[in-house]
Amino acid sequence: MARHLITSAIPYINGIKHLGNLVGSQLPADLYARYQRGRGNEVLFLCATDEHGTPAELAATKAGKPVAEYCAEMHDVQARIAQGFRLSFDHFGRSSSVHNRQLTQHFAGVLADRGLIREVSETQMYSPDDGRYLPDRYIEGTCPNCGFDSARGDQCDNCTKQLDPVDLINPHSTISGATNLEMRETKHLYLRQSEMRDELQAWIDSKTDWPVLTTSIAKKWLNDGDGLQDRGITRDLDWGVPVKRGTQDWPGMEGKVFYVWFDAPIEYIACAQEWVDAGKGTDWQRWWRTDAGADDVTYTQFMGKDNVPFHTLSFPATILGSGEPWKLVDYIKSFNYLNYEGGQFSTSRGRGVFMDQALEVLPPDYWRWWLLSHAPESSDAEFTWENFQASVNKDLADVLGNFVSRVTKFCRSKFGEVVPEGGSFGAQEDALIADLTARIARYQDMMDEMEVRKSAQELRAIWAAGNEYLQSAAPWTVFKEDPERAAAIVRLSLNLIRLYAILSAPFIPDAAATLKEAMKLDEMPWPDDVAAALASLAPGTGFDVPENLFRKISDEEREDWQGRFSGKRD
Ligand code: 2FM
Ligand code: ZN
Repeated sequence: MARHLITSAIPYINGIKHLGNLVGSQLPADLYARYQRGRGNEVLFLCATDEHGTPAELAATKAGKPVAEYCAEMHDVQARIAQGFRLSFDHFGRSSSVHNRQLTQHFAGVLADRGLIREVSETQMYSPDDGRYLPDRYIEGTCPNCGFDSARGDQCDNCTKQLDPVDLINPHSTISGATNLEMRETKHLYLRQSEMRDELQAWIDSKTDWPVLTTSIAKKWLNDGDGLQDRGITRDLDWGVPVKRGTQDWPGMEGKVFYVWFDAPIEYIACAQEWVDAGKGTDWQRWWRTDAGADDVTYTQFMGKDNVPFHTLSFPATILGSGEPWKLVDYIKSFNYLNYEGGQFSTSRGRGVFMDQALEVLPPDYWRWWLLSHAPESSDAEFTWENFQASVNKDLADVLGNFVSRVTKFCRSKFGEVVPEGGSFGAQEDALIADLTARIARYQDMMDEMEVRKSAQELRAIWAAGNEYLQSAAPWTVFKEDPERAAAIVRLSLNLIRLYAILSAPFIPDAAATLKEAMKLDEMPWPDDVAAALASLAPGTGFDVPENLFRKISDEEREDWQGRFSGKRD
């Protein structure tokens, strides 16, 4: 049995995420975790909320709440919504946990002992109007790299370049808008990434199977001369992991915290410790320590493209620099952006569908199916209500839902709610089995390679093959002349429903669960042999006709939702 450690980028705590965020990390990670479990492999699937730094502080201020209280509340909100989308995390942790604090301080201590941290006296942006330093998101300005006019102090959202507040052109405070900023002397810690350039280069060069999107971003920042500058890993903020050298105080660093991007990826490890604390597991080391069995683990990370530099350079620099036997990531699956109806999702303007709103409108499978089958893999993708309606109505209602309904209802009317016996199979069934054998093999290949869209296409084709078989075998016509043969066709078709429940579960887990219950299945082992899988329901086995699996979206609904989420009313 293979062992898979799977992590999704941990979402910032500052609000409810939109569908573009969901399809960029958590959802495809869930797809892969469910698939690996379905194949019988051992999986540890972790995610958490990213609770430190300026995003949390700014959002708490806006909500008028103490930041710790705000984070605790928003963690629960995000956990509930994740559950609503059936994201099957083994643990959904918090980067503000004690474990993450201790581990972050541990890494800083070890890196310092190995000479990889230097103390720098530098000038930082200080705003007299706000009475404070302005790190990261407290400051915005024009990106020196691409000219984007709302680049943040720590990263440009447009070109993904990591920045320092002092790099920005025409900077202003995001608290007060103040532009009369001054430079003040303050001391900070820098991670000497530049020392590790060759090691990181060799590591990335060895990853020849990674998606082009991942390696191209990594290589861009590694090779463009200033990509691997030493990075400031501390901030003048109140909220975060206090700067310590292991368990010792760090002279001169009093009142400072680690940069959120230093502690956030360490939460991937801390989350496994939280998972043990929560009583859900017993041994986190065998997932994370190569001296305790993690050599056998395949570790896959999922994230949007803006997160790639931190996961290909900064976090590996922390891990490699520690010289300790931590598990390094084996594969980084990254995603482009999802746009919304010809523009971008916008939190401030309420434009686009956010995760909580999506679930108010339709159950999770509808969204999961559309998002995954349109995942922004090779380029940015676009959500349109027309496309959503067409895809739900056709793939889910007409193809899968209709097949299930026709087979179960026809069987009930002619043979009762049991798998009928008798009759024999012939050329049509042989052809179907050969077709499905080839398609399922391709589906598995695509899922193994995390080709999300191509996997969805193959699954859709597998559903369509059943429909075509039923259409041409036409048991309703055959029944009049040869009821035994009709029984054989129906028996095979009921077995197809079982097969679909198994294969579709990673994409549409609720529908799969409904089918599992309707077909009264105890287990759903992955089909290694299609012919055997299609003979799995014995004649005489009872079933229930399931409620309509998927309903269609009407034109009125589509128009209503289009207006509701356009952001124009704000
Ligand atoms: O982009 C984001 O939402 C970040 N909070 C992702 C962090 S992923 C990791 F480093 F933990
Ligand atoms: Zn830029």
